[in-house]
Amino acid sequence: MKAGLVVLAVLAVAVLAAVAGCVALSRRSTAATKTVTAKIPGRVAVVFYSQSKVRSTGTVAEWIARHTGGDLLELEMAEPYPEPYGATLKAAEKDVSSGALPALKAIPSLDGYDVVFLGSPVWYGTYAPPVATFLAADALAGKTVAPFCTHGGGGAGRFPADVRKACPGATVLEALSLRGSNQIERRLDLGVGARHTEDDVVDWLDRIFRP
Ligand SMILES: Cc1cc2nc3c(=O)[nH]c(=O)nc-3n(C[C@H](O)[C@H](O)[C@H](O)COP(=O)(O)O)c2cc1C
Repeated sequence: MKAGLVVLAVLAVAVLAAVAGCVALSRRSTAATKTVTAKIPGRVAVVFYSQSKVRSTGTVAEWIARHTGGDLLELEMAEPYPEPYGATLKAAEKDVSSGALPALKAIPSLDGYDVVFLGSPVWYGTYAPPVATFLAADALAGKTVAPFCTHGGGGAGRFPADVRKACPGATVLEALSLRGSNQIERRLDLGVGARHTEDDVVDWLDRIFRP
């Protein structure tokens, strides 16, 4: 009986500590939002491509927009990759290896934007072909570019270097690379890759826009 009470007390303390931790984290994000927005010089766009149903890159794009006050500009293919995973892999591999530039519904205009966040899933070690199409339009010349990517466990690969190479007329900042969720992690609502949270984004923003 006494041992049972001790276990209950320990559990109660653990639950209270977890709740306090969540409150502290959300407070930290709110405070960080204000700091980051104040530090970013000029108008912000968040340009991204996200392909899977899980939308890992799209989720990170939304976090960035929330913490920077940026406008979300999603790149959409005129003819999206086929749905089944195997078919996507095959079509995408062909496009990546041939350097294809698949048509987009539209190339977003970046007139009036000073800072552009550019996001992509890592595909075969680099950015996805729709992002290659966007980069080829040379819309980033003269902008400050902050690249971000999500991957399936293989890391950012050549993504940061390839973005830098593709926009020589831009100032390219340190890239953010987060592991994307798989379906199970998403279903359990564990966030992007269960290993990353919105606070990883805030830390990165704080780092790259530190005055
Ligand atoms: C065609 C294709 C190629 C991929 N290549 C890689 C890769 O080279 N390295 C890696 O870690 N993950 C790779 N992945 C996994 C994706 O990068 C990962 O699932 C990403 O978070 C998906 O982002 P999204 O939900 O925004 O589409 C690949 C996925 C696909 C569909």
